[in-house]
Amino acid sequence: MAFDIDMIKKVYERYSTRVAAARTATGKPLTLTEKILYAHLSEGEAKQAYARGVDYVDFAPDRVAMQDATAQMALLQFMQAGRPQVAVPSTVHCDHLIQAKIGANEDLSTAKDVNKEVYDFLASVSDKYGIGFWKPGAGIIHQVVLENYAFPGGMMIGTDSHTPNAGGLGMIAIGVGGADACDVMAGLPWELKFPKLIGVKLTGKLSGWTSAKDVILKVAGILTVKGGTGAIVEYFGEGAEALSATGKATICNMGAEIGATTSVFGYGERSEAYLRGTKRADIADAANAIKEHLNGDPEVYANPEQYFDEVIEINLNELEPHINGPFTPDLAWPLSKFATAVKENNWPETLEVGLIGSCTNSSYEDITRSASLAKQAIDKGLKAKAEFTITPGSELVRYTVERDGYLDTFDQMGGIVLANACGPCIGQWARHTDDPTRRNSIITSFNRNFAKRNDGNPNTHAFVASPEIVTAFAIAGDLTFNPITDYLTNEKGEQVKLDEPEGLEMPIKGYAVEDAGYQAPAQDGSRVVVKVDPNSSRLQLLDPFKPWEGTDITGLKLLIKAKGKCTTDHISMAGPWLKFRGHLDNISNNMLIGAINYFNNTADSVKNELTGEYGPVPATQRAYKAHGIGTIVIGDENYGEGSSREHAAMEPRHLGVRAILVKSFARIHETNLKKQGMLAITFADSNDYEKIQEDDKIDIVGLTTFAPGKQLTVVLHHHDGTTESFAVNHTYNAQQIEWFKAGGALNIIRKQMA
Ligand code: F3S
Repeated sequence: MAFDIDMIKKVYERYSTRVAAARTATGKPLTLTEKILYAHLSEGEAKQAYARGVDYVDFAPDRVAMQDATAQMALLQFMQAGRPQVAVPSTVHCDHLIQAKIGANEDLSTAKDVNKEVYDFLASVSDKYGIGFWKPGAGIIHQVVLENYAFPGGMMIGTDSHTPNAGGLGMIAIGVGGADACDVMAGLPWELKFPKLIGVKLTGKLSGWTSAKDVILKVAGILTVKGGTGAIVEYFGEGAEALSATGKATICNMGAEIGATTSVFGYGERSEAYLRGTKRADIADAANAIKEHLNGDPEVYANPEQYFDEVIEINLNELEPHINGPFTPDLAWPLSKFATAVKENNWPETLEVGLIGSCTNSSYEDITRSASLAKQAIDKGLKAKAEFTITPGSELVRYTVERDGYLDTFDQMGGIVLANACGPCIGQWARHTDDPTRRNSIITSFNRNFAKRNDGNPNTHAFVASPEIVTAFAIAGDLTFNPITDYLTNEKGEQVKLDEPEGLEMPIKGYAVEDAGYQAPAQDGSRVVVKVDPNSSRLQLLDPFKPWEGTDITGLKLLIKAKGKCTTDHISMAGPWLKFRGHLDNISNNMLIGAINYFNNTADSVKNELTGEYGPVPATQRAYKAHGIGTIVIGDENYGEGSSREHAAMEPRHLGVRAILVKSFARIHETNLKKQGMLAITFADSNDYEKIQEDDKIDIVGLTTFAPGKQLTVVLHHHDGTTESFAVNHTYNAQQIEWFKAGGALNIIRKQMA
């Protein structure tokens, strides 16, 4: 599977000088987060200190990981760059498209059939461009990355929000959109606002029923779903050091649920043990040689209030198991208070399904601790009262726990092993239920529990807990059960109690696997043909966008003047459209269908100036395109907030929209528009928004002298023959102006490669 030890050694070689330069630039001791970030500046050694939460900084990540749903557009775009190989080591993981229905083998074989064209495309494009390909069934992206690619002090981006999982091994790992992944694979720097820092000091030691999951469930309760926004969470203290690497990964994984940019732990004995256990002794040796750079400076941890923007302290000796939910992961209940909460809130007390595993919690330690409870249940004459499923995070873990007999134990308890894939965690779950709308309760060891996330039923009350608690609850079949205090009645009518779970951090006989599911790329991919069926409805090769014509843009029709909130979901809706995310033309049929038209307060109804009739936004835009007429979209405040979904920028570009003029942009969307060669401009005076009339013809003037910081002018030709004009602002720097002129950032890279 070829983790790249030479690349890692190169990263480590530069650590001393870069950390020293960062200390000089900032004039203070450094947190681990700062060390890693400053060691990955794309400019090289730090020449200045960056203001946290203020400055935008260019970084050079070491790796890229992509899951199969988001990889499609990322790689279709990457193909536009004309590079023979990816610029940094990259991998693709087939995990999101497998539906859980019957059991691992049947579900995997159905998925291979249903998603064949997507898998064939991803396999061939990976083969061609030097990307490691993890086949369906190999495992879930974050677990596979943790086992194979994460390394202390590294920096990676991944096209999935739980990419921070790799922070368990001391890596700054950040979830991004496909456009960012494409840029880094194409060799461009990656921009991030220098994050704020939250320090979490862990004292004491976990014991009994409490596990690493409870740390993050507690933190989520303290910080809430927004508390980590724009920040990196750094864990430290004796309690942090004592956690297993996989336990740390669970904590970092769920940092996504508090909105954190990422989370990270320092390098220590447990990290070293995990690296050696997963056959990466070379990395452990290399990391040991620069150990002092792979933790924050001692002064920082001695006086955290002085160096972090916020500090939280948790005493693990006192930490209770937690159950969070329903419907939000920050509603945190200590086990001792949960039964009362269930009754007071009238949540369905009968537990219908307990689900363990996922990318969050399927380590050897998690499985063995849960299996110890399953074993007790069998020995004590108990059968699981709720349905119980196990989703292994990787084939490595699945094979190893099967070899060691744990899957048998679950089987005896009535558990069903699902494929090594996302499955029920992302709604890919054909749940067996007599009424799919009934109020009901489930509990998972996953990370997210928003309404409909798991089974599409808004009345499913989903709770999140550790795998141990999920297993105990599944045995009891009752949400009001407290395994620490309560007895259960066994098949003989006896009162029995579950003992504390016990497990092993790593397998005594070592990890084993027959076929991990990895496919190495061709050494020379130049002759590999990327497989895309021209008749496919799910995949479509991209054509480069046209360059700017070299003149002012005149005579634009107004496509829509959007009123109020217009998020990336209004611009490019998710849900059923997601299956088209590898097909730009088909997914463009959702363009702006959620936006409210200012002139009739209706979604997806705009005036077609060619016919005078109202019709859907995409169809109207296609009519203009067919007549070679450019259009403009007008928007309100914070246009494009939400996700980093690049489709929201690509669709208007593809359908012939020339400019987006708004009161203000969400920054990521603004950058995505610029990357696609689109004109993204803002009203200098936001009152000018009112001047735009439905049947205006609109010019954008000043483009022949387009320059950073220099305003452009918008001229409105109203239907009554009058004209008015006003200034508009932009934030293009010199490089981004070149993107605009070339028709998109990738067109420039392609030219450089030619
Ligand atoms: Fe997959 Fe759920 Fe993790 S969707 S990547 S198992 S958060």
